[in-house]
Amino acid sequence: MTSSIAKPRIVAFTGSTRRPSKSRTLAETIGRAVANHIDARIDCFDVADARPGLGAAFNRHQLSAEASVIVEAVERADALIAITPVYKGSYTGLFKHLFDFVDQEALANLPVLIGATGGGHRHALIVEHQLRPLFGFFSSQVVSTAIYASDHEFLDGRLVDPGVIERVETAALQLAALLEARRPSELLAGRQDRLDRLHAVHAVS
Ligand SMILES: Cc1cc2nc3c(=O)[nH]c(=O)nc-3n(C[C@H](O)[C@H](O)[C@H](O)COP(=O)(O)O)c2cc1C
Repeated sequence: MTSSIAKPRIVAFTGSTRRPSKSRTLAETIGRAVANHIDARIDCFDVADARPGLGAAFNRHQLSAEASVIVEAVERADALIAITPVYKGSYTGLFKHLFDFVDQEALANLPVLIGATGGGHRHALIVEHQLRPLFGFFSSQVVSTAIYASDHEFLDGRLVDPGVIERVETAALQLAALLEARRPSELLAGRQDRLDRLHAVHAVS
């Protein structure tokens, strides 16, 4: 029998402009791990998908079509996987720039899994010191296990480090559990509620 309840949509967004990208590999690895636990649609975007139309925009009306698609996908997601490369000890400027366009109410109570990739382990705590507070601002439900992977934990375009893979499994299970707990009524009602508020905001702006 086919269910009339829509699959939850998980949006992964990464702050890398480069291809191939370790951050994107990490986001896709996490997405697959979540999909082992819950039947969900997973859409992956990065700054490279947004093209220069993200960085050139000073306000939402100036966003390119490609960048708008990503901002709207983030706002309408049922859960988020947010991954950034470390640049100069922080998230990338364009990663933050995208979230600066996200409606401040849109991610409230949203399950979010956070992660970062870096050249080494020196900046591993950016997940706790920078990403977690960012989603605290949005009042999101950030899963307790954050992921950090450094360059040498990837090989031939794959995440290979057993310790990081184990953390991915743990965090994916936590995200799936949060999503599952919201289905079906809270998930659908929550999404509809967020959409209604967004439409109201855009109708007056
Ligand atoms: C401009 C720039 C700044 C960087 N700064 C740091 C840093 O401060 N700390 C660190 O551990 N790695 C740093 N890196 C390395 C990247 O974070 C790392 O290679 C990351 O995995 C790249 O992700 P990507 O393949 O998704 O682009 C930097 C890389 C670039 C290009």
